[in-house]
Amino acid sequence: MSSGDDQRVPILTARGLVKRFGRVAALVGSDLELYPGEVLGVIGDNGAGKSSLIKCISGAMVPDEGEIELEGRPVHFKRPHDARAAGIETVYQTLAVAPALDIASNMFLGRERRRSGPLGNLLRMLDKSGMRRDARLTIQDLGIGTVQDITQAVETLSGGQRQAVAVARAAAFGSKVVILDEPTAALGVKESGLVLQLIRDLRARGLPVILISHNMPHVFEVADRIHIQRLGRRVAVVTPQSHTMAEAVAIMTGAVTVDNAA
Ligand SMILES: Nc1ncnc2c1ncn2[C@@H]1O[C@H](COP(=O)(O)OP(=O)(O)OP(=O)(O)O)[C@@H](O)[C@H]1O
Ligand SMILES: [Mg+2]
Repeated sequence: MSSGDDQRVPILTARGLVKRFGRVAALVGSDLELYPGEVLGVIGDNGAGKSSLIKCISGAMVPDEGEIELEGRPVHFKRPHDARAAGIETVYQTLAVAPALDIASNMFLGRERRRSGPLGNLLRMLDKSGMRRDARLTIQDLGIGTVQDITQAVETLSGGQRQAVAVARAAAFGSKVVILDEPTAALGVKESGLVLQLIRDLRARGLPVILISHNMPHVFEVADRIHIQRLGRRVAVVTPQSHTMAEAVAIMTGAVTVDNAA
C-alpha cells in the first residue's frame, strides 16, 4: 500500500524539504505525511536524513526549501519553541535535558509554572510543589518506577532513566504531535517495553507519534505505517502487513527499489 492511496487528511505534511550543509546534502527533497491517530515509523541507514527531517518539522533546523503544513495550514518554525507552541513535542536523539536540574525542573523546562496571585505575578515565584506533584504523577503514569526521587538531579540518573524523563516530558506536553528520535536506543528491555506501551497509549489518546528507530522489531511492533528514508529522501512507505522486516531493510539499503515513494 502506498500513502498515495490514502484518502485521509494528514495532520502534518512535509513536501520537498531540502537541507544542505555546504557540500553535504542532509535532505534532497524529502516528503512526509502523518495521519491523525497513527504511529509512523521512520527507518533509514545512518546519515539517511531522519534526524534532519524531524528537526525541520520541530523547528530545530530551518529547511532551505520545501513546505510544512500542520492541520492544513503552512507553518514556518524558526526555533523549537515555535513548534512546541504549535503542539509538536520532540525528543531529540541527542537528549535535550539540563543535567544539573532535577527531574521536575526538566519536565517543566521552558514552561515553568508561577505561583498564583502576587507571589507569582509580582515576585515571579515558581510553583515548585505543583510542578513536582505533576512530574511525579507523569512519571508514575509512565510506569518508570525505577526513578526514586523526583528532586534527584537528572545528571545522577542512568542514561535510560534520562531518556525516560525526556519521553515523559514529550508525552505530557505534546498536544498535536509527538516525535521520538531513537527513544529506546539507551533503554533496557523493560524500559523499552514501557516506552513502546507509552507510544500505544498516546495513539489510543488520539495523538499521532513519529517514531524514528534503528530497532526493526520495535518499529514493526508499534508502527501503523513505516516511512523509509534513504540518501536524504523518502523512498517508500510500507506497513508491517505489506512488508517483512527483511524486505523493509532491503529497501532501506537500496538492495531493492520501489515505486511508491509518493
Ligand atoms: N549540523 C550539521 N552540519 C553538517 N552536516 C550535517 C549536520 N546535520 C546533519 N548533517 C549531515 O546530514 C546527513 C544526514 O544526517 P542525519 O543526522 O539527518 O541522519 P540520520 O538519518 O538521523 O542518521 P542516524 O541514523 O545516524 O541518526 C549526514 O551526512 C550528516 O553528516
Ligand atoms: Mg539521527
